[in-house]
Amino acid sequence: MEKQLHAVFVLVGVLVFAVSGNATAKKNVSAVGDPGMRRDGLRVAFEAWNFCNEVGQEAPHMGSPRAADCFDFSNTVKHKVTEHDNRLGVGESFPGLNPGDINNTDLYAVEKERYLGSLCEVKDTPSPWQFWMIMLKNGNYDTRSGLCPENGKKAPPFKPGRFPCFGPGCMNQPILCHQWTQLKNGTLQGSFSGSYDLDSNCGDEHDGLSYYEVIWEKKVNVGSWVFKHKLKTSKKYPWLMLYLRADATKGFSGGYHYDTRGMLKILPESPNFKVKLSLDIKQGGGPKSQFYLLDIGSCWKNNGAACDGDVVTDVTRYSEMIINPDTQAWCSPKGLRNCPPYHITPDDRKIYRNDTANFPYSAYHYYCAPGNAQYLQQPVDTCDPYSNPQAQEIVQLLPHPIWGEYGYPTKKGDGWVGDSRTWELDVGGLASRLYFYQDPGTPPAKRIWTSIDTGTEIFVSDQDEVAEWTISDFDVILKQPNQAI
Ligand SMILES: *[C@@H]1O[C@H](CO)[C@@H](O)[C@H](O)[C@H]1NC(C)=O
Ligand SMILES: *[C@@H]1O[C@H](CO)[C@@H](O)[C@H](O)[C@H]1NC(C)=O
Ligand SMILES: *[C@@H]1O[C@H](CO)[C@@H](O)[C@H](O)[C@H]1NC(C)=O
Ligand SMILES: *[C@@H]1O[C@H](CO)[C@@H](O)[C@H](O)[C@H]1NC(C)=O
Repeated sequence: MEKQLHAVFVLVGVLVFAVSGNATAKKNVSAVGDPGMRRDGLRVAFEAWNFCNEVGQEAPHMGSPRAADCFDFSNTVKHKVTEHDNRLGVGESFPGLNPGDINNTDLYAVEKERYLGSLCEVKDTPSPWQFWMIMLKNGNYDTRSGLCPENGKKAPPFKPGRFPCFGPGCMNQPILCHQWTQLKNGTLQGSFSGSYDLDSNCGDEHDGLSYYEVIWEKKVNVGSWVFKHKLKTSKKYPWLMLYLRADATKGFSGGYHYDTRGMLKILPESPNFKVKLSLDIKQGGGPKSQFYLLDIGSCWKNNGAACDGDVVTDVTRYSEMIINPDTQAWCSPKGLRNCPPYHITPDDRKIYRNDTANFPYSAYHYYCAPGNAQYLQQPVDTCDPYSNPQAQEIVQLLPHPIWGEYGYPTKKGDGWVGDSRTWELDVGGLASRLYFYQDPGTPPAKRIWTSIDTGTEIFVSDQDEVAEWTISDFDVILKQPNQAI
């Protein structure tokens, strides 16, 4: 009976869709300011994070690690940000800065990002937007510094060993080199690049030294921007992350506990959105490169309430599809602690992880629960308590046939080196069926994703590794309300 009723509804849905589709050529609604990266007048920014997503100490002569390259274009490039703006560092004032924050490296960076956002902002409906964000993170943690809180609570220093660190100063911010966007022979091009090795210089890549580079390029009036990324680890910096992010234009994006600026002029909510992007991986970055075809981030409390900046109860939630075929499933019948408690199928059946005949173990690399959750099902692994300003929960996926229904990779090697593709991912649908922890009996959190990004996390490489990839056509598409889903 229920099934028949459902069929009738689906039929009606299809009819409504077909009729309205005929009546008006429906435009897709995009959640990003620059759908498909097609706008010549680019808005792109840079941010660098230390292990706990803060600044700590600025790199000498580099200013606060926030910068932007934003311009309007009609025959010529009209920049909206100056070199002076990008070089701003603690102690220097700028419009809108709260005078009390002028000497605080962490708060200063937050306000600098907002200031750059004000220069880059594009008026739009239903709300203005600012920029794509290039995010770079150094995974070194000097545990003797006591710099990173533990699940959001201040924690004392502890003995080194668990995290990479070559000694004092290992959490430094990088050198930032910037080639302002220019027009040359019908093509617009600019870049950010640099190194964590402070004895390095601009423009060059050196053996044995870390390196990052993002070059953006577009033919005027034609197609999409192409973002060409490169990331290289070194002995001193074996754990590096480089992502291209579409973040919320205000409020907390995934992984922050402060106001940010970004590209998501509408916040996508599960299950009603898709993500489109073209990804061409030229070099994978070695066996430890957890390349994220897509990483989605959000924040809600264990009782389902929205985050409010209280780091003791806010919890960052991430889910990532890792496409490096070298990444193994840690989740297994013998490694239940690395699996979420259950899997939900596209037809909404729950399969518990102890159901060894049916649970799709190889679809999950790793699951870890929030360190501040009080009612966890055993066995369980809790997430690293130091690498975010608050507790976090992570659901990491691997290519598997069960994700095929959502347009995700179904087998090892899909989308990897030599298999460049344009993906159309039903991220909203998939993310609505992932397990995320909540206290028993609490109303389910709204799954609103404040950060959507692509890139790699080279997770403590044993040798110097290089990853190289390009991203284009990035879009977040809201499903039409009357679309048959
Ligand atoms: C809308 O999006 C769908 C799915 O991405 C695509 O197939 C279709 O061509 C798009 N329609 C328009 C008018 O752009
Ligand atoms: C910031 O530092 C400068 C120089 O040390 C000092 O003069 C100023 O009072 C400080 N401002 C605040 C708000 O702490
Ligand atoms: C300029 O662009 C045209 C068309 O893309 C190309 O054929 C030509 O070689 C370019 N010239 C230079 C100097 O790069
Ligand atoms: C499997 O796990 C579920 C949920 O935790 C539990 O209710 C059930 O008793 C377990 N089944 C077996 C056979 O252990």
